[in-house]
Amino acid sequence: MSAQNVTVLGLGQMGAALAGALLEGGHRVTVWNRTPAKADPLVARGAVRAADVAEAVAGDGPVVVCVLDYAAVLERLTPVADRLRGRDVVNLTSGSPEQARAVAAWAAERGIGYLDGAVMTTPPGVGDPANMVLYSGDPAVLAAHRAVLAAFGDPVDLGADAGLASLYDAGLLGLMWSVFGGWLHATALTGADGVAATDFTAVADRWLRTVSWFMTGYAGQVDAGVYPGHDATVDVQVAAIGHLLEAGEARGVDARLPELHLELMREVVAAGHGGDSYARVIEAFRRKG
Ligand SMILES: NC(=O)c1ccc[n+]([C@@H]2O[C@H](COP(=O)([O-])OP(=O)(O)OC[C@H]3O[C@@H](n4cnc5c(N)ncnc54)[C@H](OP(=O)(O)O)[C@@H]3O)[C@@H](O)[C@H]2O)c1
Repeated sequence: MSAQNVTVLGLGQMGAALAGALLEGGHRVTVWNRTPAKADPLVARGAVRAADVAEAVAGDGPVVVCVLDYAAVLERLTPVADRLRGRDVVNLTSGSPEQARAVAAWAAERGIGYLDGAVMTTPPGVGDPANMVLYSGDPAVLAAHRAVLAAFGDPVDLGADAGLASLYDAGLLGLMWSVFGGWLHATALTGADGVAATDFTAVADRWLRTVSWFMTGYAGQVDAGVYPGHDATVDVQVAAIGHLLEAGEARGVDARLPELHLELMREVVAAGHGGDSYARVIEAFRRKG
């Protein structure tokens, strides 16, 4: 694609990786950071250093923002709101869905195009099309800059509600921590008998693909609100988790994580749904909502 003008505000670990990916893509990149020295490596690669935010947004391309939080986003954009009228802001700072919707409304009131986003990797993964960057907000902004934004990773369009990228991000990080927890618990369990983490993880990686296939089937059940236990019932899994607890007990492995799963499954059984699939456990979470 042809080179575009792009501004990047915020050159912490993530902002610097985003600016670097744009340079790698051959774009003309103007950068600003509160602590100016962080721009030095990017300037050495061809970026243009702006003295302040007003100078940084003086050009005509999209403005990518990646600072610590949404308070810092508004602190930096508010003084230049007039200059941003008619321009597009792509905010890749992490925050809550409510904050994203508030900044989207702030931008709309000022005639600023606004796209919110969540980078679903760490800085070394930026630029790899295997990694996703989630976007939600003004569809026209994503359509106008999709080719430029592809420099960061695969752009995934979640629609016009600006809060959805942050909402998915929060949910996906929760999923990641649950997987990390389950993997580390299982690695401690197998490691107690001398299994190397790398050996166990090679098998665990294949198992996660099967688990992903289960999830895809269960998602349809959740949407339909019916949970036929034709593959494996909660009753069967209550028995199965007993084996995990027993094996952990024998090896001195902390039981808090499997006990939480057992508690959730027991709620389902107590409500009379032990013959349903594991997807029925969603009701245990909804009741706490
Ligand atoms: N790192 C990751 O793996 C990752 C992944 C996904 C999303 N994110 C999100 O990306 C954002 C940046 O993360 P990071 O890892 O780059 O953090 P970081 O390395 O700590 O950088 C923070 C950046 O925010 C700037 N900043 C903080 N307060 C500011 C203010 N009041 N005004 C202007 N600039 C301000 C800092 O400027 P100074 O240099 O002057 O301190 C720095 O450029 C966060 O919202 C984070 O959640 C990070």
